[in-house]
Amino acid sequence: MTPSKAWSAPRWTTVVVVLLATLCCLFVPALGVKHENFKKCDQSGFCKRNRQFADKAAATTSWTSPYALDPTSLSFSDGILSAVVLKTVKDGQEKVRLPLKVTFLESGVARVTLDEEKRQKGDIVLRHDSKARKERYNEAGAWALVGGLETSKGAALSDKVEEGFTKVFYGKGGKHQAIIRHAPFEIDFQRDGETHVKFNQRGLLNIEHWRQKVEKPQEEKKEGEEAKEEEKKEEAQGEDESTWWEESFGGNTDSKPRGPEAVALDITFPGYEHVFGIPEHATRLSLKTTRGGDGNYKEPYRLYNADVFEYELDSPMTLYGAIPFMQAHRKGSTVGVFWLNAAETWIDVVKPKSIPNPLSLGVLRHTDTQTHWISESGLLDVFVFLGPTPQDLTRQYGELTGFTAMPQSFAIAYHQCRWNYVTDEDVKDVDRRFDKFKIPYDVIWLDIEYTQEKKYFTWDPLTFVNPTKMHKQLDKSERKLVAIIDPHIKNTDNYPVIDELKKKDLAVKNKEGNLYEGWCWPGSSMWIDCFNPAAINWWKGLFKYDSFKGTAPNTFIWNDMNEPSVFNGPETTMPKDNLHFGNWEHRDVHNLYGLTFHNATYQALLERKKGTIRRPFALTRAFYAGSQRIGAMWTGDNLAEWSHLEASIPMILNQGISGFPFAGADVGGFFGNPSKELLTRWYQAGIYYPFFRGHAHIDTRRREPYLAGAPYTEIITQALRLRYQLLPAWYTAFHEAATTGAPIVRPNFYVHPDDEKGFAVDDQLYIGSYGLLAKPVTKEGQSSVDVYLADDQPYYDYFDYTVYQGHGHHNIPAPLEKIPLLMQGGHIIPRRDRPRRSSGLMKYDPFTLVVVLDKDGNAQGTLYLDDGETFEYEQGAYIHRRFSFDGKRNSLSSSNLVDRVTVKGENYLKTMAKVRVEKVIIVGAPKSWRNKKEVVVMEEGKKESARKKTVEMEWFEGGKGRADWAVVRDPKVGVGRGWRIDFD
Ligand code: GLC
Repeated sequence: MTPSKAWSAPRWTTVVVVLLATLCCLFVPALGVKHENFKKCDQSGFCKRNRQFADKAAATTSWTSPYALDPTSLSFSDGILSAVVLKTVKDGQEKVRLPLKVTFLESGVARVTLDEEKRQKGDIVLRHDSKARKERYNEAGAWALVGGLETSKGAALSDKVEEGFTKVFYGKGGKHQAIIRHAPFEIDFQRDGETHVKFNQRGLLNIEHWRQKVEKPQEEKKEGEEAKEEEKKEEAQGEDESTWWEESFGGNTDSKPRGPEAVALDITFPGYEHVFGIPEHATRLSLKTTRGGDGNYKEPYRLYNADVFEYELDSPMTLYGAIPFMQAHRKGSTVGVFWLNAAETWIDVVKPKSIPNPLSLGVLRHTDTQTHWISESGLLDVFVFLGPTPQDLTRQYGELTGFTAMPQSFAIAYHQCRWNYVTDEDVKDVDRRFDKFKIPYDVIWLDIEYTQEKKYFTWDPLTFVNPTKMHKQLDKSERKLVAIIDPHIKNTDNYPVIDELKKKDLAVKNKEGNLYEGWCWPGSSMWIDCFNPAAINWWKGLFKYDSFKGTAPNTFIWNDMNEPSVFNGPETTMPKDNLHFGNWEHRDVHNLYGLTFHNATYQALLERKKGTIRRPFALTRAFYAGSQRIGAMWTGDNLAEWSHLEASIPMILNQGISGFPFAGADVGGFFGNPSKELLTRWYQAGIYYPFFRGHAHIDTRRREPYLAGAPYTEIITQALRLRYQLLPAWYTAFHEAATTGAPIVRPNFYVHPDDEKGFAVDDQLYIGSYGLLAKPVTKEGQSSVDVYLADDQPYYDYFDYTVYQGHGHHNIPAPLEKIPLLMQGGHIIPRRDRPRRSSGLMKYDPFTLVVVLDKDGNAQGTLYLDDGETFEYEQGAYIHRRFSFDGKRNSLSSSNLVDRVTVKGENYLKTMAKVRVEKVIIVGAPKSWRNKKEVVVMEEGKKESARKKTVEMEWFEGGKGRADWAVVRDPKVGVGRGWRIDFD
């Protein structure tokens, strides 16, 4: 959240927003996050209750979980085990029936769902005036899941019967086993006979069943008595009921018509010391523990999408998005869980120290990671992944929630944003100046001030006089414009969008079922409810070119404030008792709201135009599991400080392994003015963000790269050029993400899963599968960096081929003009070396292949290419090649990875027929080539006589710790063809 500043004369609504914003502490100097605006666990009733429950369990030696599976209810068919789990309440007098379903999926993933049986005879009574639904929210899957749900044909009950247990073999070759203990109810998940994930081992399973509210005769009590009575009750029952039926925070009261309904479970990863994931938090990749102690957090990790002003670093506090997917990693094994629940969620992580092993000289080691998951409402619905590799996890999670949408090629180039480019002339001027300084960029962005008084789908007529002309100028160099559209719709007169929203009844409602009104940038606003299919349909219409006039095919969209951010709401968001389509409470769906809005925008962009459909681009701030199918995300309102630059790397790495890799942070830092050094270093790091955008707050000074002056502008330009040069590698990495779920930038553990020393390394990254290892400089005045190498391959400096080799840290010079980037031996990296104004202008440029030999003299790499715009790649219109250098035969070849020939594919190949490889560089070229002057090139498909030719080659001596290299100049082989270059 950020202060509003009107470009036009202040209006009363603006004044009120500013006042409200001030109340929300927006104009305070940069003192950091206001903790008192956000709940701690003990201020969130259900979190407090469940932590207390955990403490009680830990303190009671004879603690037994009150949940037991009723063996008479058990059945198993078609990969699904069904049963009823009974919860014993009130000293055994009452049993609550919880239907259990364990689904064994063909992929080897297991899904455990625990619901609450609907009871007859008015057993569940909501407050009589409530419109909320009388069942647990069960539609999170409908939004988050898109596949991977085929049940296993091979899953089978074990024939070895053991009293009190049910065992199911599943997974490939029956290697996985779920051992379900009946009483107390527990599940152990095994792979190859070893337990990797345990449910309810600590007995913290807790489904707060629905119950009837016992009304107390209020009028008879005097003030104070009530509280005392509450306390007495608490003592007697050992349960804190004070927040069951109502809860207040920061002056807002949440009427809880359904009473307590949390779901909680402990999940243990035995033998695992590292857990990763559960974004979004500004924290390290390897998650710290959360129940106090030196250097650890006291609070659990919280997932409750929120607009956190000046968010703090090194914190488990919630941020803008939520992905409840966690993976545990150790040498030889990665496993994980996906907690499918869209309500507010807290996760405690502890790592008890194990008894010292006499051989380890008394050193205490953490060997287990224990986690405790607590959600406010909804089903208990958990997927269990048994790996065994990090790649299995990202693939299987992607099969369930979808892979990254393949973006248009412009979307992975550089984006230039600020709050705000103030007129259409300003936009055109910035565009011209980039060209004047020969700085590449693809997209310029418009923040909220382009609208007329914050009314989305309008242009301010005084400042954006001719948006069509502006778009045309951008289009001349294949550039795009992204305009912001937020989910709050200004509640004002003479604005057809709000009139329709109301008339069509498509907005979120308050607890009484009336239109909910709150405050955001435009002042009084209402929020579109995209859980409603009719709202999505209506939204689609608003983006048509004849509706949103002044937009063009090169306009794309930015969705912000979709947590949703409500300036005067509890914790800057909506009241939890608000109602959505289908009468679900906001409490049930909060973390999904951002995804539903982002999805509606994506759908709208798909349908803007008849004829060939172009891939949408929509950026989102709020997200949930599945948002990766829709567009990109960024890490919100960071600060122009070195610490925020540093924190962006683990945050983006974490997005990558959590299934949403199209991620970036505001380059330069949103709040505040970066020094020139910081700005330069931020660009040098930003070129490694999959989503690469410079952005700045309205109160900051202009900082477009050309303003920095010498030597900064030149250095930033070089960084941008490096990003553009490597776009073919980036695009291929995106394709890999879109087809396998692999992250685009990868942490050390993902690339070297057996290198124990590197598991927590989160300040360096690998780009795709290219062995390109980058270590951004994130400290002021730093002139070298220590890069961690996890194996004994040679690593070559990207620019001068200096060789670094050997497991461990290596110091690499990094003066301001140098971007630390290494190439691991064994890869072939595709580049496009011609500097251009935008990526669109590089479409038919020739390629350079950098062949980086490993210690045995071999190398491999792939290249994926398509039209970069349409969906025709889905019908085979793409090029996908594998390049291999065989060190024994000394030959480099290009082979086809396209799996089928199609008409669209053939046509695409024709458009690319003239695109050639213009240069091959061999890094680590053997000395035996010293006197070689030429190589033999053979290409498929050409006339016999033209197939074989000799081409010039030159060998260079590296000297001084540098590798030798060789260059083949213009072998003139087609990038979409099969060919071979023989060096011997
Ligand atoms: C929010 C966004 C920020 C944007 C501002 C105005 O603070 O996070 O990027 O510039 O709103 O729209």
